[in-house]
Amino acid sequence: MPAEDSGPSRAKPPKPRVTPTISIIGAGRLGTAFALAFSRRGYVVQALVCRTALSARRAAKMAGVASRTLALHELSLLPRSDILLLTTPDDQLSNVAKLLAAGISRGRRQRIALHSSGALPSDILGDLSSVGFSIGSMHPLISISDPESGARRLEGAYFGIEGQLAATRTARRLVSAIGAKSFPIAAINKALYHAAAVTSSGNVVALVDIAIEMLVRCGLTQSYARTVLIPLLESTIENLSSRDTGKALTGPFARSDVATVRRHLPAIARSEVTDALNAYLLLGRHALSIMERGSLSLTPNNELESVLDEFESGK
Ligand SMILES: NC(=O)c1ccc[n+]([C@@H]2O[C@H](COP(=O)([O-])OP(=O)(O)OC[C@H]3O[C@@H](n4cnc5c(N)ncnc54)[C@H](OP(=O)(O)O)[C@@H]3O)[C@@H](O)[C@H]2O)c1
Repeated sequence: MPAEDSGPSRAKPPKPRVTPTISIIGAGRLGTAFALAFSRRGYVVQALVCRTALSARRAAKMAGVASRTLALHELSLLPRSDILLLTTPDDQLSNVAKLLAAGISRGRRQRIALHSSGALPSDILGDLSSVGFSIGSMHPLISISDPESGARRLEGAYFGIEGQLAATRTARRLVSAIGAKSFPIAAINKALYHAAAVTSSGNVVALVDIAIEMLVRCGLTQSYARTVLIPLLESTIENLSSRDTGKALTGPFARSDVATVRRHLPAIARSEVTDALNAYLLLGRHALSIMERGSLSLTPNNELESVLDEFESGK
């Protein structure tokens, strides 16, 4: 009969997991928010690098981290952190990767380099790959303007992740450490992926700018016009967070309200607000296609479509 207790186990005790160290190259809006978010979760942010040392010191102060602060020309003083996060502007990534690679010798331990550009694939860091780094990209679908609110927003963000195996594994761990979520995105799709992000962020701001100008023509001040639109925008986002676009769509295109659209078009044309008519026609047509896609319209939208066509041809 086998003994129940075969004595002390010979299996090695598991190694305590050591939290990897991080250096951030390009401590601007996103880099500083990363420094704050990761240091709060127990990561040691060993160094922050900016173009100037003054800018790096300012970033460390804003993020409340006791990291080494370096200028770009001091890269030789960069510690051998396990993870390099490159958060410089997109057009600097390749150059910065080259500079970093020039001063780095291959070690026994594989290190990780990740950038945070939405549009560029990880192979922009190819120079670091040639000196033994596993390279990847982790892009947060979020807009960040300062470290404190940025770190908070990162916690609820979704990150598109792409790159080599070890790099993507590390990126997923970093993302989940700050309470965010990630999904894979193929390198070949990064430009389209980022264009989608711009369409739902920067381009929405451009669209709201048009609406503000229309309200200014109605006699509101710029700042009051922005204020009155915020609850409307928030309610739209709320609708979108629990319903698909077909069900979240409201307004005359969702209701097949032909008479209202007929009143809108000449009023927008008379206002002479730049791009307002083109945006209304373009997005109105898309709203119709959403309704048709789900066969959601109460009556066929052919009439609304011909109203838009007629107006456009007589412009
Ligand atoms: N901000 C966002 O909402 C957001 C969201 C998602 C992704 N991203 C991505 O994050 C990256 C950075 O964006 P950001 O908005 O944080 O930019 P940013 O605020 O302009 O910061 C860029 C940082 O990079 C530094 N830098 C510029 N050129 C450099 C160089 N050659 N070497 C080293 N550092 C250099 C700057 O240093 P100085 O301070 O000395 O000028 C600055 O600290 C971009 O790839 C962007 O696409 C940003």
